[in-house]
Amino acid sequence: MATLRIAVLGAGNIGGTLGRKWTKAGHTVAYGVRDPQNAEAQTLRQSGASVTVGTVADALGTDPQVILFAIPGGTMEATIATHAAQINGRTVIDAANRLGGGGPTDSFANFQQQTPTAQVYRAFNTLGWENFENPVFNGMQGDLFFAGPEGDSLAQVEQLISDVGLRPIRLGGTDQIGAVDALLGVWFTLSKTLGRHLAFKVLSDASN
Ligand SMILES: NC(=O)c1ccc[n+]([C@@H]2O[C@H](COP(=O)([O-])OP(=O)(O)OC[C@H]3O[C@@H](n4cnc5c(N)ncnc54)[C@H](OP(=O)(O)O)[C@@H]3O)[C@@H](O)[C@H]2O)c1
Repeated sequence: MATLRIAVLGAGNIGGTLGRKWTKAGHTVAYGVRDPQNAEAQTLRQSGASVTVGTVADALGTDPQVILFAIPGGTMEATIATHAAQINGRTVIDAANRLGGGGPTDSFANFQQQTPTAQVYRAFNTLGWENFENPVFNGMQGDLFFAGPEGDSLAQVEQLISDVGLRPIRLGGTDQIGAVDALLGVWFTLSKTLGRHLAFKVLSDASN
């Protein structure tokens, strides 16, 4: 698989962890952050020779093959609307969770409305970031459930999940985003007793 140009929007727990893993795997990561001049941004710049750190518009302007959304759920609507022209037509991975508003956890409706030709995948949103940092559990690889369309970008998304160290398990197309998001509640509930280094594993006689 060729290396990819990835725009990582948000460089906190999720963006920082995934961005570092993908940089290590050889991909070119452009971080989009609110303050490209702060100390965190300077540290990020030193995480790889090909790493760049700029504004969200800067990152989206690097002609990314994949865009990861790793910003707070409450900022998704405005971010998608503001940058719709740069997002439309591209492959998007939405890891952001909109919690506590009573509406859907995902932002698919906003992508559909504002960026109708984007290929939107729901991934990296059901496990705590610690599991992306360390995806192995007593020697066993964790699985990551995701949803999104078939096509060329599917192989890229599966590659990016594998590059983090998890096994990709596709639940279906965008109509299965709700099935992915249902696991978020299961993860939160279990993590209260088992701790945050916690993932899921599919066991089946069928080959996967
Ligand atoms: N934490 C987890 O384990 C976990 C797991 C799965 C999914 N998620 C989801 O992933 C997303 C990120 O979570 P996180 O834990 O990584 O959060 P975080 O550590 O707080 O990082 C959020 C990042 O987004 C940036 N940001 C905030 N508002 C922004 C805006 N309007 N435009 C651009 N960047 C903005 C922040 O920049 P500043 O530093 O300037 O504030 C920070 O770099 C959330 O939607 C969360 O629900 C989190």
